[in-house]
Amino acid sequence: MKHRAVKRRTVVVGLGSVAGAAAIGGFAADAQAESRNSSRNAEKPANSGALAFDPSAYTELTTTVTTDEGDKEVTYHFWKALTYVTAPVDAEHQSLVVSVPVRIDGKAVDATNAPILFSNAVGGYFPASVATAAGVGEAAMEMGDPGGAGGPGPGGTPPADTGTGTGAPTTGTGEVPSGSNGMLNGMGEMVSLPKLGLAAGYVVVEPGCRGRTLTDANGTYYGTAPAAIVDLKAAVRYVRSNQGRIPGDTRRIVSTGTSAGGALSALLGASGDSALYAPYLKEIGAADASDAVFASGDWCPITDLEHADGAYEWNWGANTPQSGTLDQSVSKELRAQFAEYQASLRLKGLNGFGPLTARNYDDYLLETYVRPAAATYLKGLAEADRSAYLSANPFITWKNGRATFTWADYLTHVGARKKTAPAFDTFDLSGGENNEFGTGTTEARHFTAYGQRHDTTGLTASRVDGDIPALLDLMNPMYHLARHNPGRAKHWWIRVGTKDTDTALTVVGNLAATLHGLGDDVDSLMYWDQGHGSNTDAADFITWVARVTGRRK
Ligand code: DHB
Repeated sequence: MKHRAVKRRTVVVGLGSVAGAAAIGGFAADAQAESRNSSRNAEKPANSGALAFDPSAYTELTTTVTTDEGDKEVTYHFWKALTYVTAPVDAEHQSLVVSVPVRIDGKAVDATNAPILFSNAVGGYFPASVATAAGVGEAAMEMGDPGGAGGPGPGGTPPADTGTGTGAPTTGTGEVPSGSNGMLNGMGEMVSLPKLGLAAGYVVVEPGCRGRTLTDANGTYYGTAPAAIVDLKAAVRYVRSNQGRIPGDTRRIVSTGTSAGGALSALLGASGDSALYAPYLKEIGAADASDAVFASGDWCPITDLEHADGAYEWNWGANTPQSGTLDQSVSKELRAQFAEYQASLRLKGLNGFGPLTARNYDDYLLETYVRPAAATYLKGLAEADRSAYLSANPFITWKNGRATFTWADYLTHVGARKKTAPAFDTFDLSGGENNEFGTGTTEARHFTAYGQRHDTTGLTASRVDGDIPALLDLMNPMYHLARHNPGRAKHWWIRVGTKDTDTALTVVGNLAATLHGLGDDVDSLMYWDQGHGSNTDAADFITWVARVTGRRK
């Protein structure tokens, strides 16, 4: 498995203020800023509960953000890690940071009623932390320790011979800033949405949350499903319960995330105010407020996990894995499961496509997403580059601004797939998702009947554990959408690259088609030739946020 070195993006932090220096000047400067701000604590709203946001407890920072319109110098108020629940299991992860722009290129901005970008940094279902974040866009996805013998340890890398798992870097011991998600396999470049949002004048909230690798002193896994979504909901509740204290319009919370973070963002969007999470939220002392979000931005969401193995084989079954071998009979059986699942969804495609089935889904993806993605890409190239690209890729017919090619040729163009079969509920429990469904001191479990039946780790039970079905519901946006959850977000932005083989493209296709069927506002497209985690139209997303939230420039 290949990994690009994790690249830290340069953040230019201004030294123009004492507080600005605090963020980069270490402990002494930090303490100075603390005392300066604590003198203003008298300004706290009178009716402050344990989770009251202190409007005065910020430091002022300056950063330069590179945007499509050039570099912008943004001065902003930054609230360091704030614990968002009253009974944290792990305050280091159950905390969030807030950034509020006050000046952009020297011009004062008022973010009092700005949309709130709620941007999670989760990757790989690992924990995410803002404990040490000293400015916007520094939320860290934690990679955990590399795996031990016999498969990945907590947060570890998949065994080299299977190619399954989540693709954590082999050096996965550190933290990765949210702007460069280390889970992402290096084919796509990811622009920091928190920074772009700030430069657009939005309030930015970056939540940490528990993740699958966390264990307590007894070796009990306390960050596996549904911990991450419970925490993100608690963070939303914290923000909303601080309406009037926290800058921004708490009715216009826009969630974002990529990959596992995209899955959680979609889930946050789909499950707003669902009663299913109430006991979990109560247990950690979440604020008594709505956890619905206004809009959901989801990049390459690794979701619908219990159906993802079948979908993966339907989509990428013809492609050889990057490493390891593909068991053809397993692939075939899983593909058959997809046909059954897809039929059960009774979905209609966008643009009047009609019922979506395993038989026509290739045509649907080509027509709706993949060919238009190629066309957009080709149109964006200069004449000479386009000619060169088309000569190098003769499978594409380019005529009248339209790209045509067959599904088989597209699959060949994508090349080796990232995972073997099953891609998620691996027989040897080595997948990251197996760990996501771990419980107690059990690191990893099966979450599909098929995975359980084919277990190679010596399990004797023929069925998945009794608590698994309910956990799957808690983790799957499709569950909530099937029930037309009234508290769901009504505005959706969904993206994936056409070379992203971390999951099936049908996952995005089904999510978008379901939402469209419910009458929600869905902006879904694919990025041509982009791999896992790219967000090549991040600037468009920022504009989309302004439009759907009614933000005036
Ligand atoms: C991620 C990637 C995966 O392939 C997966 O199975 C889960 C998560 C990620 O990049 O977050």
